[in-house]
Amino acid sequence: MKKAKIYVLATGGTIAGTAESSLDTAYSAGKLGLEELLDTVPEIKQLADITGEQVCSIGSQDMDEHIWLRLAERVNTLLKNDDCDGILITHGTDTMEETAYFLNLTIHSDKPVVLVGAMISSSAISADGPANLYNAIVAISDPESRGRGVMCCMNTKLIDAKDVIKRHTTDLATFEGDGCIGYVYGDKAYYNRKVTYTHTTLSEFDMTGVTELPKVGIVYGYAGCSPLPFESFVNANYDGIVIAGVGDGNIHKKIFPLAIDAVKKGIIVVRSSRCSTGPTCLNGEIDDEKYHFVASQNLNPQKARILLMLALTKTHDWRQIQHYFMEY
Ligand code: SIN
Repeated sequence: MKKAKIYVLATGGTIAGTAESSLDTAYSAGKLGLEELLDTVPEIKQLADITGEQVCSIGSQDMDEHIWLRLAERVNTLLKNDDCDGILITHGTDTMEETAYFLNLTIHSDKPVVLVGAMISSSAISADGPANLYNAIVAISDPESRGRGVMCCMNTKLIDAKDVIKRHTTDLATFEGDGCIGYVYGDKAYYNRKVTYTHTTLSEFDMTGVTELPKVGIVYGYAGCSPLPFESFVNANYDGIVIAGVGDGNIHKKIFPLAIDAVKKGIIVVRSSRCSTGPTCLNGEIDDEKYHFVASQNLNPQKARILLMLALTKTHDWRQIQHYFMEY
């Protein structure tokens, strides 16, 4: 079979991290350069022709919108080329779900784009990076992987960008999503289901020429909640605020009137939940129609923030934005 031509965009993370000794839990993320990282798995050269570039060398806690915009621009350009069959992005696991979701809505190609990372640094015993990298290259090389949107490949699983969530601070099986869409076994990718929401080729979000995204902050809900973070975002003229509410997106009484006022000032307020799973339902426990709040549906706060930033590049109409939350 003809080898796939795969381009790697390296961003850092634990997969490229090194420690003083093979037993250390403390390590520095993003230390291995692209070539050194690829050399940890010489077997991938049998699967695909691989080239690439270093986009940045960071721990993904430092990922930001500017790097996302650069990645989106680069991936869209590369995938237009017949010489590129798919893209691998090496990335820290901490914010991988956010980058994956952003790219899923801003890349307009059905060629495979897979993010890969590791929970254990490259110099540690039982580093998981090499197997994850190998599996990601298998997935991208497999024609069955086309048209499935951006995916993350971790611990043999292929998880779609909307479902993928880092659920555990240290476990290798941290990324489970709401059930993976597939897995890699040996040199083949196997898929269980297709995703049903809109992404990539059908997404209406076009980042061509965009250099700044609208400002959207997240306010975390908890017993005895302080209004200060919400007030700070309003005073800083943020365009949108996502409330990581409790339960089904419920809002503390000290925040609720501030949220109503913010909407009156033209700020879009999205209700999401600090619960790790489950939807925040439109007109569920709060009358969103009455207050013109947007319900995040199946998006957690960090992904709701991304969709809201993208939505605000097109409209400030809360009904249209709610429609996006139903669709994407
Ligand atoms: C990071 O996200 O860059 C550090 C943690 C990891 O990659 O697992």
